[in-house]
Amino acid sequence: MSTDITGTAAWTTLDAHHRVIQSAHLRDLFAQDPQRGTELTVSAGDLYIDYSKHRVTRETVALLVDLARTARVEQRRDEMFAGAHINTSEDRAVLHTALRLPADAELTVDGQDVVTDVHTVLRRMGEFTDRLRSGEWRGATGERIRTVVNIGIGGSDLGPAMVCGALRHYADGGISARFVSNVDPADLVATLADLDPATTLFVVASKTFSTLETLTNASAARRWLVDELGEEAVPKHFVAVSTHADRVAEFGIDTANMFGFWDWVGGRYSVDSAIGLSVMAVIGKERFAEFLGGFHAIDEHFRTAPLEQNAPVLLGMIGVWYSSFFDAESRAVLPYSNDLARFAAYLQQLTMESNGKSVRADGTPVTTKTGEIFWGEPGTNGQHAFYQLLHQGTRLAPADFIGFAEPTDDLATSDGTGSMHDLLMSNLFAQTRVLAFGKTAEEIAAEGTAAELVPHKVMPGNRPSTTILASQLAPSTIGQLIALYEHQVFVAGTVWGIDSFDQWGVELGKAQALELGPVLTSTQAPRPQYDSSTDALVRWYRAQRGR
Ligand code: F6P
Repeated sequence: MSTDITGTAAWTTLDAHHRVIQSAHLRDLFAQDPQRGTELTVSAGDLYIDYSKHRVTRETVALLVDLARTARVEQRRDEMFAGAHINTSEDRAVLHTALRLPADAELTVDGQDVVTDVHTVLRRMGEFTDRLRSGEWRGATGERIRTVVNIGIGGSDLGPAMVCGALRHYADGGISARFVSNVDPADLVATLADLDPATTLFVVASKTFSTLETLTNASAARRWLVDELGEEAVPKHFVAVSTHADRVAEFGIDTANMFGFWDWVGGRYSVDSAIGLSVMAVIGKERFAEFLGGFHAIDEHFRTAPLEQNAPVLLGMIGVWYSSFFDAESRAVLPYSNDLARFAAYLQQLTMESNGKSVRADGTPVTTKTGEIFWGEPGTNGQHAFYQLLHQGTRLAPADFIGFAEPTDDLATSDGTGSMHDLLMSNLFAQTRVLAFGKTAEEIAAEGTAAELVPHKVMPGNRPSTTILASQLAPSTIGQLIALYEHQVFVAGTVWGIDSFDQWGVELGKAQALELGPVLTSTQAPRPQYDSSTDALVRWYRAQRGR
């Protein structure tokens, strides 16, 4: 039976501390401890992380670290890195950290030389993408491949799609990538609309190679290609990424053009495996190696830094602090970088599929809230949409602000005094400041505001945020950012005692969709089959479709 973390002395102490601190205002915490702005910070790799604008004191941080130790975060972390089967419900190792080990590292797990296996696949990916990028690999008509269309969903889509967007400036091989995931045919149709089959290569990415959406889209894409170029064109225009060679072959893709990975790589942890093939096609193998290097830098930080200065531990524990003690429901992720437009969507799968669990690893119910709801949009768009609630609403929504010193693009402002990037970053700094410190009724009244308007204009402040800064959005930086969140998920999941690496909750919906499919298309008169709501919805749909 797992230890119930809420029954430990470390939890009880933190709970008592929470009662004291829950009403403290960040204005007072900063006034009482003027050094906190420089000292409640941590550097990890190239990331500078300021967590001073959180509703924590130095004592809170010490107690959170104590709780992490009580939950055996260090031991569990070492077990994960060593390849222990910490995904207990699936009896699997959890080794995404091995995907970014340097070639001269050593790691043997379950009798398998993991590092050699990883680098063999990386070498094959490099050879293949070199051929694509140089134009040596050509389509069936002899034309160069210009567009790679990744067909996958969840972890087989979100990672490469997000990273290709983030590294837009590193596309230097004449290849662009597009992504099709949704079984809604609109996705495939819109993506292929202006593409030429002769210059298009499909990467069918699926760990299991059994996912309905991916196989359905891949079959439709195959028909699109074959209609234009004939059956014999398929080998030159379809490659696969999967752990299941048999299913790839059955689908009709030559396994010589398949790039493998292993069951110890979870889908949402797989962008740095062969699932990143489309990324490598766009940015090249050297930049991809830098991307992996970024992950590894944070892995090393997470593995070796004392918990008190360990960024994923501190941020993961602050997540636990808000979820479990303040009852906060969500965490907003607000990148002040348009190129990170898909980062929140990526993190939604990483964090919510991992820690959205109600039972602990041993099957007993959890005794505290788990799994923050992640959401967000790039700044400054969010400011003109939902920040109103962040500033003056009744809910506590901690936020992660992410910004870069060097712009990916920059333009002068119209008055010629600065750049648009400076303007963007001034917004980031202003928002975190206003969220934390707000503006009091007295300050607003002193400005001559009409008395009846004062309450509307009061900015309560005390709204917590983390600021994560890096010099630029380079391949290594995006690897570092991803690893920073991967390990936070691990830390929080460990404290909550859950298996962060399974996802049983997605299965029933898939099964019922398969069962409902024939019911929707049946020509027999509809009969009561399910609950009264579902039956009525099915009848409505069938009537609309003339069935
Ligand atoms: O249904 C959830 C899920 O299993 C995710 O965990 C995974 O990333 C996604 O589906 C896609 O799975 P696959 O790569 O096997 O197609």
